[in-house]
Amino acid sequence: MELPSSPKTPTEPAPIRRLDPSVVNRIAAGEVIQRPASALKELLENSLDAGATNINVTVKDGGLKLIQISDNGHGIRFEDLPLLCERHTTSKLREYDDLRSISTLGFRGEALASMSFVAHLSVITMTAGIAHGYKVSYKDGAMEGEARPCAAVKGTQLMVENLFYNVAARKKAFKNPGEEYGRIVDVISRYAVHKIGTSFSCKKHGDTRADVHTMVTNSRVDAIKSVYGATVARDLIAVSASSDNESHSVFSMEGFISSANYSAKKTVMILFINDRLVECAPLRKAIEVVYATVVPKAAKPFLYFSIVMPAAHVDVNVHPTKKEVSFLHQDNLVDTIQRAVEAKLLDSNTTRTYYTQTLIPGTQSVEKEITTPPTATHTTQKAPVNKLVRTDALQPPGQLHAFLPKRTSKTADVENDLAITRKIVRQRRNPKESSDLTSVQELLAAVDRETHSGLMDIVKNCIYVGMADDTMALVQYKTYLYLINVVAFSRELMYQQVLRRFAHFLSLQLSTPASLRDLCMVALDQEEVEGRWHESDGPKAEIAKLNSELIQCKAEMIKEYFSVEIDDQGNIRSLPVILDQYYPDMERFPSFVLTLGNEVDWESEKECFDSLAAALAEFYTIHTPSLPNPAGDGVLLYQRHKQMTAIASKSAEDADGRQEVSAGSGSENQESDELLAEAETVWAQREWTIQHVLFPAMKLFLKPPRKMAKDGSAIQIACLEQLYKIFERC
Ligand SMILES: Nc1ncnc2c1ncn2[C@@H]1O[C@H](COP(=O)(O)OP(=O)(O)OP(=O)(O)O)[C@@H](O)[C@H]1O
Ligand SMILES: [Mg+2]
Repeated sequence: MELPSSPKTPTEPAPIRRLDPSVVNRIAAGEVIQRPASALKELLENSLDAGATNINVTVKDGGLKLIQISDNGHGIRFEDLPLLCERHTTSKLREYDDLRSISTLGFRGEALASMSFVAHLSVITMTAGIAHGYKVSYKDGAMEGEARPCAAVKGTQLMVENLFYNVAARKKAFKNPGEEYGRIVDVISRYAVHKIGTSFSCKKHGDTRADVHTMVTNSRVDAIKSVYGATVARDLIAVSASSDNESHSVFSMEGFISSANYSAKKTVMILFINDRLVECAPLRKAIEVVYATVVPKAAKPFLYFSIVMPAAHVDVNVHPTKKEVSFLHQDNLVDTIQRAVEAKLLDSNTTRTYYTQTLIPGTQSVEKEITTPPTATHTTQKAPVNKLVRTDALQPPGQLHAFLPKRTSKTADVENDLAITRKIVRQRRNPKESSDLTSVQELLAAVDRETHSGLMDIVKNCIYVGMADDTMALVQYKTYLYLINVVAFSRELMYQQVLRRFAHFLSLQLSTPASLRDLCMVALDQEEVEGRWHESDGPKAEIAKLNSELIQCKAEMIKEYFSVEIDDQGNIRSLPVILDQYYPDMERFPSFVLTLGNEVDWESEKECFDSLAAALAEFYTIHTPSLPNPAGDGVLLYQRHKQMTAIASKSAEDADGRQEVSAGSGSENQESDELLAEAETVWAQREWTIQHVLFPAMKLFLKPPRKMAKDGSAIQIACLEQLYKIFERC
């Protein structure tokens, strides 16, 4: 087929002409009536505006051949029939300001007019107190002939035939009448759930069975049941939320949401705002996030929300098909409803108890906090200056960190070393499929169930600022500052990673295989020093032997599932890679091996995997190094150590009766300097790992459990908006 040649670039301006009204009207009609379902929605809304309590719809060819709607509303007055399909004629609005308090669904006087420009339209209507009805047809906004008296019942019947008969391109676009019929059924279903004082039916022309059929009822759940089926209705939870704070938002919401037992292929969200069927993408997203985190197996919910707010707060005139409205304080409303849904879901989904811990005085727990910051929603409103967030969580890490005071001398060398590490390509991927063992699936499901969505949002979208002390990292999330306990968070991350990578670990080969028995002995010696081993526990050598034999018995399983390879001589040869770019602190290797022998429950499968994951997590956790932190005042410790060794060696010399300073004191000085250098390296490396490995990995993989929002692992320490009130700058 030959394609038409593209138009030539005009060299002279074409004259501007006034469009023929028929062209204008047809263009306008194309905006209002986009498809059969949008025509049906307009007709349905007219019937509801007319106070109908019974509405019946018949459809042929997906609405392209025929949409017929009959209602028992108040009908149309005979004298109004000539105006019925004229553009901008309506019985519902007089002044523009009436829009501020509009209670009808229609207000433009455009719907029927538009239909008459792109279809054949005919009406039979009868008002109360008149002995007969009238029948009339319309074309291009005007009556075709006179209205003829006919037999009728009170109400209106409208027939829209041959939709888009004169808009060939549009008509061709609807190739699948079945799909279009589905959209029509969808619109009627939604209204049928909301308008429980009206009965609805919808069927295909020629069918005896209706695809939607509802009766007038008092029960919303019954309406949902007759439209969406018993499976949906069975698992519903009633939900409500409201706010009457003018500066926050004023609304009340009643609704129903599906519980954790309900699973579907896609989300159904039926949303009515002031009785208008609308869409609200930010609300849908916010609720989907809650489901995805609280009940991932039921991540596609059924939702019905009816929101009522002062008419003056809503602008209904923002979309050509009225499928959206804009209203004040959308973010706050979305946030409040999201929290109400989350609370309901958690309530229904859990019987767990959470332990709480007293927090540092003057600080706020995240549990309380997650209720305040608004979730990210799309808004065109300019944020007030005290809410401006001047950082972007998507920027590379370290942007804020760069403003922290630089460390002393040795740090430069350390950073050079680190630069080499940084060049290594990062692979932060977990296997696509988790293990199919039921026990592992159950442990992972427990992680999902326990996830705290607010805390997860903070971790995902925070910006690392720096380490506030040895264990707490300072992060910014929106206009809030939090302290995050890196030890607790890294332990949880490692645990979850072990479950996710179960049986799919890459392995870390040890350059020197380590004997299980020796490692147990070292760990027991450490325990003795720390006062945790007593003679009554039995001889250390015996414990070490028994433990290493036990672990060796399990070698095959440990290797297959956890990549911990143990050879026939009882030496560990490899460890798993739990997080790419991350290696455990080998100082903790002995105690890990001892834990394998002492604390892992080898009897039942699930407990075994759980305790083994916990043991590995403990080993790989980013603990505080054993060398004290030399940063800031910490350096005094090393200086004191230097002085003490000098004094000790001097007194030893004095005791020996030697007066001169021995050569040994020089080497002790050097030893102290080396200790300081080593401590600086270790701590700098740790901080680098926290910033460049831990936080990015947490953003990707961590699902923080609810207990971490309460036990002081994450603490809100400042709200920049509050600080703004004091300093008038953020
Ligand atoms: N089913 C009906 N029963 C009674 N009156 C109706 C019905 N359908 C339409 N009308 C009357 O016809 C008028 C024009 O309807 P139309 O849908 O074109 O405009 P509208 O509802 O006023 O505004 P909008 O274009 O926003 O829908 C309505 O104002 C109403 O008075
Ligand atoms: Mg209308």
